[in-house]
Amino acid sequence: MSESTGQEGRRFPAPEQLAAHANVGPDVYAQAESDRLAFWETQARRLTWSQEWDQVLDWSNPPFAKWFVGGKLNVAYNCVDRHVEDGHGEQVAYHWEGEPGDTRTITYAQLQDDVCRAANALLELGVQAGDRVAIYMPMIPEAVVAMLACARIGAVHMVVFGGFSADALASRITDSGAVLVITSDGGYRRGAPSALKPAVDDAVGRTDSVRNVLVVRRTQQDVEWTEGRDLWWHDVVDRQSAEHTPEAFDAEHPLYIMYTSGTTASPKGILHTSGGYLTQVAYSHWASFDLKPDDDVFWTSADIGWVTGHSYIVYGPLANRATSIMYEGTPETPHRGRWFEIIEKYKVTIMYTAPTVIRTFMKWGEDIPAKFDLSSLRVLGSVGEPINPEAWLWYHEHIGGGRCPIVDTWWQTETGAHMINPLPGVTDLKPGSAQTPFPGISAKVVDDEGNELGDDSTGLLVLTEPWPSMLRTIWGDDDRYVDTYWSRFGKEVYFAGDGAKKDDDGDIWLLGRVDDVMNVSGHRISTTEVESSLVAHPTVAEAAVVGASDPTTGQGIVAFVILRGAAEDSGDELVQQLRNHVAKDIGPIAKPRQIMVVQELPKTRSGKIMRRLLRDIAENRELGDVTTLTDSSVMNLIKDKLPASS
Ligand code: WTA
Repeated sequence: MSESTGQEGRRFPAPEQLAAHANVGPDVYAQAESDRLAFWETQARRLTWSQEWDQVLDWSNPPFAKWFVGGKLNVAYNCVDRHVEDGHGEQVAYHWEGEPGDTRTITYAQLQDDVCRAANALLELGVQAGDRVAIYMPMIPEAVVAMLACARIGAVHMVVFGGFSADALASRITDSGAVLVITSDGGYRRGAPSALKPAVDDAVGRTDSVRNVLVVRRTQQDVEWTEGRDLWWHDVVDRQSAEHTPEAFDAEHPLYIMYTSGTTASPKGILHTSGGYLTQVAYSHWASFDLKPDDDVFWTSADIGWVTGHSYIVYGPLANRATSIMYEGTPETPHRGRWFEIIEKYKVTIMYTAPTVIRTFMKWGEDIPAKFDLSSLRVLGSVGEPINPEAWLWYHEHIGGGRCPIVDTWWQTETGAHMINPLPGVTDLKPGSAQTPFPGISAKVVDDEGNELGDDSTGLLVLTEPWPSMLRTIWGDDDRYVDTYWSRFGKEVYFAGDGAKKDDDGDIWLLGRVDDVMNVSGHRISTTEVESSLVAHPTVAEAAVVGASDPTTGQGIVAFVILRGAAEDSGDELVQQLRNHVAKDIGPIAKPRQIMVVQELPKTRSGKIMRRLLRDIAENRELGDVTTLTDSSVMNLIKDKLPASS
């Protein structure tokens, strides 16, 4: 997406009324700057600790950080019980809305009972502190309950997005060594039940660590049943006691693993721990969205299978005693106004979503949101990819009624929480720019050698100080952790993998990934992963995959394949087959938008595929410099093969 639409000069000052009552004021940056560790220590006191820490940060062995060393707390207690003890048991934690229109209202008191029952069930199933539990579920309240039950007993949850394939689930179960899978018969998507259990059966059959599969009944679909291994949630959880005494765990006790795409085919298990993570998600949720627990109705539209769901549907909002919306389905079911209907119905005040969704709404037209009363909204958020100024302005006007600040939050699975974003009521907003490092965060733009760049320059984004919610390692692979993030500019500088520009005012504009990771609708997919999947198909000899810019999804996946000699059929049917093969192999989000069958791929003399040239083709551009190709006629061959319209 280009950020140069002539809108860069426009500023949107904070609405006065909001600024007057905002949770944080402009002095927050200076405060954090003057003593970063003291600042984070203050934020850690938002939580209830059973034992105080002796040291805020141990960075004696970079890049392996320890935050709040010696401190002890229970994450689930902090998210649930303490609010009930403080007299807020009747406050709604979640207004849950199922896709078919069924609803559930869950108070903090009820959530406490549910989490205690589930925790007791996990203990009965022999799950111990430190064990890994896979969660593969639709957006139903039991998904949150399952996560919190794990946290409560010190088990490490590993949520796999329900749209991922059996293969993806199997490899994550194997890598993490999960002993239990929590799933459901299925969930509702686009107006129909969509099964989950068959993928679990398939995946678990190929792994050897899983002892039990705990199944929530949601859609009433028929499921296969393995006696002795499979258990219904309602049989095992419902009969448990609603009493469970939480145990305090070390601040660095592992909380969860979340797999994310890297530049190689095997996903990385990002490990997050307890005290620092909860501190930063709680503080950022409160400060970035100006969250007022007694008044606001907060909605993050992400799926719980992504880090955004973990940090801003579950841990941040609950730690802050927020009332949140949780919605099971898609925005167009049963009609394209579904989201706006939900905002109107629950009087949502803060909405956090992704640019791809905004662009879809733009496509559908502004008359749809115009039919609903969206006047309850006061703050809007964006995450997942750069929000182009056109989408920003549309969001501001047609959803925010021109009055709501838009908080564009840059962060990653690895960072755990917001890292670069304006603060509502404080920052004068610039459409398209994430603007300012979060208080207590040091973000810089550097050149290829790691030299810090001044204003009005473009380079690579790095984080130069450790932060509380940072990943601690890649599960089971410390070396890969060091190599991937902490070696390009030395062991104390985190390389984010994003390009960035600093404008004349020193505001930061994110420019997308600089590695071979694509961003499709805000989801990270590695080019290598899709290439490996294509090459695994019997008809494919070689494949090259690029992310080409796409007006709705940000990037779309475009693949170039060379067929094996025997595979003569290069027609539409084969292309469809290959697209479906990738969807089945990795998941529907990885399905290539377009596959082009070619005779040759452009390679450098050292044998590297020149994706830049393929991207030129995929985006219908004049070809860039071809002089480093082994054979520059290759590009003509590829172009000749293209359908005239593409
Ligand atoms: C991109 C999602 C620009 C970026 C929380 C990053 C963004 C990757 C933004 C992380 C944003 C996320 N502006 N780019 N506001 N938010 N990104 O791990 O390339 O799924 O490195 O975390 O998404 O994606 P992940």
